[in-house]
Amino acid sequence: MTRLLDVTGLEGGYGSVKILNGIDLYVDKGEFVTIIGPNGCGKSTFIKVLFGIATHYEGTVIHDGEDVSSWRTDRLVKRGIAYVPQVNNVFPSLTVYENLQMGGIRLPPGILAERIERAFDMFPDLKPRVSDLAASLSGGQRQMLALSRALISDPQFLLLDEPTAALSPLYQQQIIERIDALREHGITVLIVEQNARLSLARSDRGYIMAGGEIVHTAKASEILNDPDIGKYFLGIKDE
Ligand SMILES: Nc1ncnc2c1ncn2[C@@H]1O[C@H](COP(=O)(O)OP(=O)(O)OP(=O)(O)O)[C@@H](O)[C@H]1O
Ligand SMILES: [Mg+2]
Repeated sequence: MTRLLDVTGLEGGYGSVKILNGIDLYVDKGEFVTIIGPNGCGKSTFIKVLFGIATHYEGTVIHDGEDVSSWRTDRLVKRGIAYVPQVNNVFPSLTVYENLQMGGIRLPPGILAERIERAFDMFPDLKPRVSDLAASLSGGQRQMLALSRALISDPQFLLLDEPTAALSPLYQQQIIERIDALREHGITVLIVEQNARLSLARSDRGYIMAGGEIVHTAKASEILNDPDIGKYFLGIKDE
C-alpha cells in the first residue's frame, strides 16, 4: 500500500491554546480510517489543523510524499484534499443548486454541470430539492448536500467530521454506505465519528484519541471486538 498521509508528532490548537499534544497517524491510499474519542478530545481540531484552518505548532504532515505542514487551505484543496465540517457545512440561504455550484466555482461550466449531475446520481434525494433553500432540508439531506459539495472538486482525499451526527439510523446507514462506496472511485477517507460501530464496521483501521493524543490504534475489526475499548468509547449499550 502507498502511504497517502503520514502525520508525526503533530501539535496544534487555536492561537496560543494548545489542544493536540503530538499526534502520530497515517492513512494509506484507498483506506477508510476512523478516529473516535470522547467529546472535546481534539478530533475536530486535528482535522482542522490538517486542513489548514487551525494552528499548526510542531510536527510534520506528509501528503502524497510532500511535506504540507502549515500549508494554506487553498493549496491543500488544489492537491485534492476536501473537508466536510461537523457544523455549518452548507449555506442555508442558498439553494441546493447554488450550494453545489459553490463547490466548483473555478470549474468550466460544462464540467461543473456534469459533476452536479453526478452528485444527484449519488444522492437522488437531493434532485427534487434542487431549487429549494438548503435551510429547508432535513438533517440527513443537509449532510448529503455537504458531502456532495465536497465531491464537486473531485478530491482524492476526504476529511469528514461526524457526517452522521444527529441523524436518524436510516440516514446514518445511507450516508456511511455512500462514503464507503467512494472507495470504488479511488477516494481515500479519514473520518471522525461518534457512531463508532457504524463507521468502524466499514473501516480498515481505527484510532482512538483522548486528551489531544492517540491512545490506541488497531484494525477496525479488532477495535469493534475489544470489550474494554467498547466499554469506554463505543458505549456499553448494544445498538
Ligand atoms: N475555536 C476554538 N478556540 C479555542 N478552543 C477551541 C476552539 N474550538 C474548540 N476548542 C476547544 O478545543 C478542544 C477540542 O475540541 P474539538 O472540537 O477538537 O473536540 P472534538 O473531539 O471534536 O469534540 P466533539 O466530539 O464534541 O466534536 C475543546 O476543549 C474545545 O473547547
Ligand atoms: Mg468534533
